[in-house]
Amino acid sequence: MRHDHLITSKQLSRADIESILDRASEIDDDPEAVAQRQAGTLLGLLFFEPSTRTKMSFEAAIKRLGGDVVDMGAVESSSVTKGESLADTVRVIEGYADALVLRHPREGAAAMASEFVDVPLLNAGDGAGHHPTQTLLDLYTIRENAGLDDLTIGIMGDLKYGRTVHSLAYALTKFGATQHFISPESLRLPREVIYDLHLEGVTVKEHESVDEILPSLDVLYVTRIQRERFPDENEYAQIAGEYRINAEILEDAADDLTVMHPLPRVDEIAADVDDTDHAAYFEQAHNGVIVRMALLDSFLGDDDD
Ligand code: NCD
Repeated sequence: MRHDHLITSKQLSRADIESILDRASEIDDDPEAVAQRQAGTLLGLLFFEPSTRTKMSFEAAIKRLGGDVVDMGAVESSSVTKGESLADTVRVIEGYADALVLRHPREGAAAMASEFVDVPLLNAGDGAGHHPTQTLLDLYTIRENAGLDDLTIGIMGDLKYGRTVHSLAYALTKFGATQHFISPESLRLPREVIYDLHLEGVTVKEHESVDEILPSLDVLYVTRIQRERFPDENEYAQIAGEYRINAEILEDAADDLTVMHPLPRVDEIAADVDDTDHAAYFEQAHNGVIVRMALLDSFLGDDDD
């Protein structure tokens, strides 16, 4: 696979995705075999929004491949506070690193920034837009727990502002999954995403409650209401807490239902779900390292590739 940049999951074919997931499985089986694959590679981290998992798992991934990071650090301590543009920042940092990982609050920021650099740029979340590397670890976790063939998935919560949802929905079209979208009316999938899914031949099934479809699901993908993207705090307060699951609700689910969440959770999944066989969200977060190792290795390549 050769791509210059990874901006959205739309640009990955089913074969691209399967090759990254297969590579991740191989790495899981034998991490030592790739311990020096990216020796000397420097990854530039530019996180303009908070991150725990994405940033740390990228860092762990490149270090486990023998490389290292240069990190812009907190926005407050960077020259961004002096008014530097994103275009200038990425143009400077590409001179320090072999690839860039960018998270930014503005939708479209990764696509815009990628036009200014020659090194690969990986989108680690652009506002309410896309989060393609999360999608790869989501798909890996789905494949391990439920399989990607004949999948019936429910995606629940903030479908409007949740970028992990948009990226996952696009990628799942390549596997022919049946997708149910569960949200309050005000947080439905954006029209343009629905339109794109239609173009891919997907009938978008929308629900306001999970109850009616829960028993039919192989996977339930729960998301956080994206408080930071709400224009109005009162609107957030009205909706927060409406879409919660707990162990009692899951009694109506199939025994082998897999419950996922990109994390961080606030209170969408009660702690009593953690000890059930359904819970796969911590495993999902852990998969971030091997999947990002596989992705970095295939994007950066080496002399043998
Ligand atoms: C997600 C994000 O940043 O979009 N987190 C993550 O990367 N695992 C989900 C979220 O913040 O709700």
